[in-house]
Amino acid sequence: MTHVPVMIREVMETLAPQPGATIVDGTVGHGGHAAELAKASAPGGLLIALDWDEAMLKAAIERLRAIEGVRVRPYHADYRQLPESLADACLAEGRQNGADAVLLDLGLNAAQIDDAERGISFRQDGPLDMRMDRSRGEPAAAWLNRATAREIENVLFNLGDERWARRIAQVIVDRRKDRPLKTTADLVDCVLAAVPAAKRDRRLHPATRTFQAVRIHVNRELDGLEGALGAAAKTLKPGGVMAVLSYHSGEDRAVKRAFRQLAQEGSFEETTRKPMTPTEAEVRSNPKSRSAKLRGIRRLS
Ligand SMILES: C[S@@+](CC[C@H](N)C(=O)[O-])C[C@H]1O[C@@H](n2cnc3c(N)ncnc32)[C@H](O)[C@@H]1O
Repeated sequence: MTHVPVMIREVMETLAPQPGATIVDGTVGHGGHAAELAKASAPGGLLIALDWDEAMLKAAIERLRAIEGVRVRPYHADYRQLPESLADACLAEGRQNGADAVLLDLGLNAAQIDDAERGISFRQDGPLDMRMDRSRGEPAAAWLNRATAREIENVLFNLGDERWARRIAQVIVDRRKDRPLKTTADLVDCVLAAVPAAKRDRRLHPATRTFQAVRIHVNRELDGLEGALGAAAKTLKPGGVMAVLSYHSGEDRAVKRAFRQLAQEGSFEETTRKPMTPTEAEVRSNPKSRSAKLRGIRRLS
C-alpha cells in the first residue's frame, strides 16, 4: 500500500518553500511530502532527506532523484542527527549552512505497518520485533519476555493510554512462563485474554493501544524528542520554518513544549496558536490521518 502524505496542503502552506531553498525532511518515508517540497524548490533547491529505515530511504531517493532542478542528499540517520546531516550536506554542496524549511512527520509509514516481517501490526501475524532500525536495539518480544509486570504496565499506560494496562501486563507475565512470546498473534492473544469482551471499544481493535505503546518504547520514539526539536529548529535561517506532524498525545505534548520554549527564548514564533488538524474530507479519504496534529515554528529575522 502506498503512503498518502498527510495534510499536504497545510504542510506546503506552512513551509512555503521558494526556488533555491534548502529543505530538510527528517522523516522522508515514502517521499510524498518531500516530492512536493522538492518541486517547489526547483530550480536550484537542495533537499536533504533522512530516515532511520534504510529500505524506506532507498525507495524515496529513487523517486526524488527523478525530480528536475533539485539536488538530493540522503542520510540513513535518526532525525536527532539532523543538524550534523544538514551541515555535512551544505558543506558538500558549497552552500551556507542553514535550512529554509524543515519537516518532521513522526510515526510510521503505511508500508512499515503493513510489512508482516516487522511485527508492527496486530493485523498481520509475524515475528514480534517492531524495530524500525533492525541494526540496533531490542526486539519487542525480547523486552516483553524479560520486563517486570510493572515495567510493562507503565509502558502500556504512559505510551498507549491503555486503561487495561495492569491486566494485560499480568497476562503477558503469566503466559510467558510456559511459552515466551514470539509472534504478533501471541501479543494479540494476551490482550484479548485480558480485556473483557463487554468492555471493548467497538471502533478500535483492543490491541491497538498495546501495539502502539510497545512500538514507541522499543524504538525509543519519545526519548530526547524535545531536545531534538529544539536543535532542529536552531538550524533554520532567519525566516525559515519548521513543521511537525504528530499522531499521538505524548508526541504532540513534546512538540508543544519544545515550541513554547523556543518562542519564550525570543527568536522564534509559532505559525499558529493551536495545532492544525486534517479536514473531515481528508479523514474520510485517509483514515490514518485522523489523529494528525500539525504545528509550525518560524525563526525571526
Ligand atoms: C509517517 S512516515 C513519513 C511519511 C512521509 N512524510 C511521506 O509523505 O511519505 C515516518 C517516517 O519516519 C521515519 N522515522 C520515524 N522516526 C524516525 C527517527 N527518529 N529518525 C529518522 N526517521 C524516523 C520512519 O522510518 C518513517 O519512514
